Amino acid sequence: MNFPKMRPRRLRKNQYIRDLVRQTSLSADDFMYPIFVTYEDHKRPIQSMPGIFQLPLEEAKKEAKEAFDIGIKSVILFGIPQKKDEFGSCAYDENGIIVKAIKEIKDFVPDLIVAADACFCEYTSHGHCGVIDKNGYLLNDETLELLKKEAYVYAKAGADIIAPSGMIDGMVGAIREALDENNFKDTIIMAYSAKYASSFYGPFREAAQSAPAFGDRKSYQMDYANAYEAIKEIELDIEEGADIIMVKPALSYLDIIRMVKDRFFYMPLAGYSVSGEYSLIKAAAQMGWVDEQKIVDEVLTSIKRAGCDIIITYFAKEWIKNNSLLKI
Ligand code: PBG
Repeated sequence: MNFPKMRPRRLRKNQYIRDLVRQTSLSADDFMYPIFVTYEDHKRPIQSMPGIFQLPLEEAKKEAKEAFDIGIKSVILFGIPQKKDEFGSCAYDENGIIVKAIKEIKDFVPDLIVAADACFCEYTSHGHCGVIDKNGYLLNDETLELLKKEAYVYAKAGADIIAPSGMIDGMVGAIREALDENNFKDTIIMAYSAKYASSFYGPFREAAQSAPAFGDRKSYQMDYANAYEAIKEIELDIEEGADIIMVKPALSYLDIIRMVKDRFFYMPLAGYSVSGEYSLIKAAAQMGWVDEQKIVDEVLTSIKRAGCDIIITYFAKEWIKNNSLLKI
């Protein structure tokens, strides 16, 4: 009997042959690690994200160093400010928490790539991602003006990457202009280009104390039912000067990641595996229902396989600690 002629199982016979034909492998180089920095003087655990904390400056520096020492090349910073107001002025305050964190971390770990999330939801009293009118509607162009100031202070503090996450129309162009005018021509813009209005951000809003006080973010973030709209958003960001584009969240949006990579293969693509993706796995693992280490590897590999060059994930440190096959 000659059948079957083709036996795909030949290439799955043992670990060595499987390794040889493996198409996707993760390494520490792929990860960007989020850090929450607080003005407070003590470390505060985030209930819905076991293992993740709001960190005071000193601790944030140590965390950044520890990440760098195990091979993580980049972090992204989120701030919890001392006071919130209507305009989110702490976001562009020259002495604000993120400005301090950028300076101190760059000073302490100079080679670590530091990205600063540029948004307002952590800084505004109403929790929206910019200036709102009396009906609670986000004012686009007024927000752009503040965003330019925010990007400028972060670049001046030494941020390598500015990452606007508010889905404000024209945000990339406005920031590029502000940076170029002030001679920060080499500061990178990583745009949260296709960011969906998602319930997967729930735990982050506890972590960053940034839940909107009323309404939702649907008038600026994308409808999760839409795929092709992502193409439009990304084309605009590329035209406006984005250096890196992003799809967010990641796990429920692998189809979008694949579509975007196929179309914009010349652009570095980031995928943000968001707080809710982290919490779902942590919760199931704590119940003993899934094998955490294996499921994390599978999920992160799937994000890379779908087309991401950069994976922003709260699991970065954990993955590296659990994997011996490191390329540091
Ligand atoms: C700020 C911002 C959010 C996230 C990253 N930047 C929250 C939001 O849009 O509500 C979410 C990250 C996460 O859930 O891990 N605009």
